[in-house]
Amino acid sequence: MRLSLRFIIPLLVVLAAVAYAVVPLVDSLTVRWFTRDLDIRANLVARTVEDAVHDLLKTNDRRRVRQLFEKITQDERLFAIGYCATPRAEPIATTSLPRELRCDSLGKFRTGRVETHLLQSERGLLLVSVRSIVDSTIIESGATTGELVLVHDMSFVDRRSEETRKYLFWMFGGLALTISLITVVVAQLSWRGWEQGLRALMRGEGLLRPADKSARPELRPLARDLRELVQDIQTEHSSRADDLVPWGPEALRAILDGELRGQEVIVVSNREPYLHMFSGNEIVVRQPASGLVTALEPIMRACSGTWIAHGSGTADRDMVDKNDRVAVPVDNPAYQLRRVWLTAQEESGYYYGFANEGLWPLCHNAHVRPTFRATDWEQYVAVNRKFADAVVREATSDDPIVLVQDYHFAMLPRFVRELLPNATIITFWHIPWPNPESFSICPWREELLDGMLGSSILGFHTQFHCNNFVDTVDRLLEARVDRESFSVSYQSQQTEVKRYPISVDWPPAPALLAKSVDECRRDVRHHHHLPEDHVIGVGVDRLDYTKGIEERLRAVQRFLELHPEWVGRFSFIQIAAPTRSSIEHYQAYEARVRALAMRINTQFAEAAHPPVILHAEHHEPREVYEYYRAAELCFVSSLHDGMNLVAKEFIAARDDERGVLVLSQFTGAARELPEAIIVNPYDAEECAEALFEAVSMPAREQRTRMRLMRSLVREFNVYRWAGRMMLDAGNVRRRSRLLKRFKFPERMKGRATPVKPPLVIRR
Ligand code: F6P
Repeated sequence: MRLSLRFIIPLLVVLAAVAYAVVPLVDSLTVRWFTRDLDIRANLVARTVEDAVHDLLKTNDRRRVRQLFEKITQDERLFAIGYCATPRAEPIATTSLPRELRCDSLGKFRTGRVETHLLQSERGLLLVSVRSIVDSTIIESGATTGELVLVHDMSFVDRRSEETRKYLFWMFGGLALTISLITVVVAQLSWRGWEQGLRALMRGEGLLRPADKSARPELRPLARDLRELVQDIQTEHSSRADDLVPWGPEALRAILDGELRGQEVIVVSNREPYLHMFSGNEIVVRQPASGLVTALEPIMRACSGTWIAHGSGTADRDMVDKNDRVAVPVDNPAYQLRRVWLTAQEESGYYYGFANEGLWPLCHNAHVRPTFRATDWEQYVAVNRKFADAVVREATSDDPIVLVQDYHFAMLPRFVRELLPNATIITFWHIPWPNPESFSICPWREELLDGMLGSSILGFHTQFHCNNFVDTVDRLLEARVDRESFSVSYQSQQTEVKRYPISVDWPPAPALLAKSVDECRRDVRHHHHLPEDHVIGVGVDRLDYTKGIEERLRAVQRFLELHPEWVGRFSFIQIAAPTRSSIEHYQAYEARVRALAMRINTQFAEAAHPPVILHAEHHEPREVYEYYRAAELCFVSSLHDGMNLVAKEFIAARDDERGVLVLSQFTGAARELPEAIIVNPYDAEECAEALFEAVSMPAREQRTRMRLMRSLVREFNVYRWAGRMMLDAGNVRRRSRLLKRFKFPERMKGRATPVKPPLVIRR
């Protein structure tokens, strides 16, 4: 309405001014026209009566002349008439002739423009016309015999003017109303069009279809300008963040305090960063072997949020407060760990069953068939709901930033979105995403996608996995996929699909590098009864079939077969943390790895030192770093891996710029670290030669490669990984605030509130 008044008020002012100027003009025009008409009429009357007047004048009968005049003035308009024989004569006239009209005062009515022949009398406005009359009997000589004075009543002109003014008033009023109406309607329609255009642009749609031919041509230049502006803002934010080199806890904190103004951050993951375990009568704290924990722990230290995770340590319940919270790290608390308790049945169905027997093999090309059970799915959905409730309980605002971690929580984004529509939900999928054919074997494929698309942003390690995800959505859901901006519009919500290559803390915590490389070398060799010049290769993994540990050991075996001069001079130490041991596949895998290590050592039994040293147990980060620093090479042979942080940890550990990384081509890390020796883990010959190349690599070449890899990991460290997500979260929040300012329809608020009923979860 305010907008309409902005148009209407100036319009009315202008129309009133025009009306004000026009009315006097119309008045004077009306007078002029009538004056001329009546003057012509006077002429006509004079010509008509002049003969009769002459005849009567000849009889010298003034009375009869007057009678004639009285008769003529019965005409409504003709007010008076008189005759002057000479200027000094007494006029023969009707009684109505105004007194001020004497024969000697007619001069001013004889000459000049007719409009000046007006006389304002007691009767009102009068028009005085003076006409010489000619005697036709002496017309040849052209002699005139006197003058007729014709007085017309002009008072009717005032009445007509009054009437005209009334018509003019109504006409301008009507005109104002009609123009106002048309203006308001056109303005409203145009405004709506602009608004929709702007909203579309802010939703990113304008960015998606820059050359949209359906867009109104007059809006195209504006759309282009806005597009450029939005891109500028985004680039500015990105570059501002990129300028904050080096990326570290401070830079991340600066983003949280600046871009996100200290917003609340909640992390949700299955694995907790610290487990409390009973060890005899004592309670000890353990850090699990988990890439996810490695990446997120330094982030949480930097931003002091809340981390919600499954409390799976044997002494976990003894360490929490009444709200199931414990401040961690225990020695220097920086954030809250909120533990969620699961029953054995829940853990079995959700974690071991659906997540690790279903989704894990589904997403990894490791040739283990996924197993899907309806009972596991039920538990998976129920546990996702349980964690979503925990998020809501922990949230102190209605729009927290929720960082959902991994394949354990594909349904959680949707559940959180239902409970906290304004939350900014970033889901990071730490494992690969398969192609649409592979994914579609999952009986609950649509439900999983629907759940994930509750996120504001979905992150994967590589562009390849982003592509696979977008292809899968395109194939399986009724959603609009935009490949230019990599976003999915589904149920009136938009989810951005982005690549965030995960990394490690940089520089590593001082405690991890406290022991010098020489000390590490010496201690590790001493601990394993190896001579000082013994060459060591190291592998660090969870005992998982995707890690290619069997392939790795076979490569060691083949290397020694091909290069027997290394038998007894080289040992490969495999750190293998037991994992998911309740699952048959994992039990069988552990047994196979143990048996293979034993077989290889038996094959080279005559060697002074065993070729394979297997430590199938958990190691704390400090111990792992000792192995990294002591080894000549690190071998990562995953059959399929989202990123693989062991590769990056090894690089981070080698501040001496020595050591060689042999890396599977099927890891996300291989795309970032071409200076490693890249191998196909299925090709034992190739891997054996890579090991040979590694143990024979000159120190200079090791340094050159290691320097390059270190500079990449330094720059693309875990703070950058988190920082980029946080910056994008900031952009999402800014855009959604803008949308609200533009009074976006309710259903679009929070960008991800479903308008269609969510998919029914099959039981
Ligand atoms: O690799 C995927 C992943 O979720 C990692 O993020 C994490 O390091 C690992 O699996 C942990 O597995 P789990 O929690 O089952 O021991």
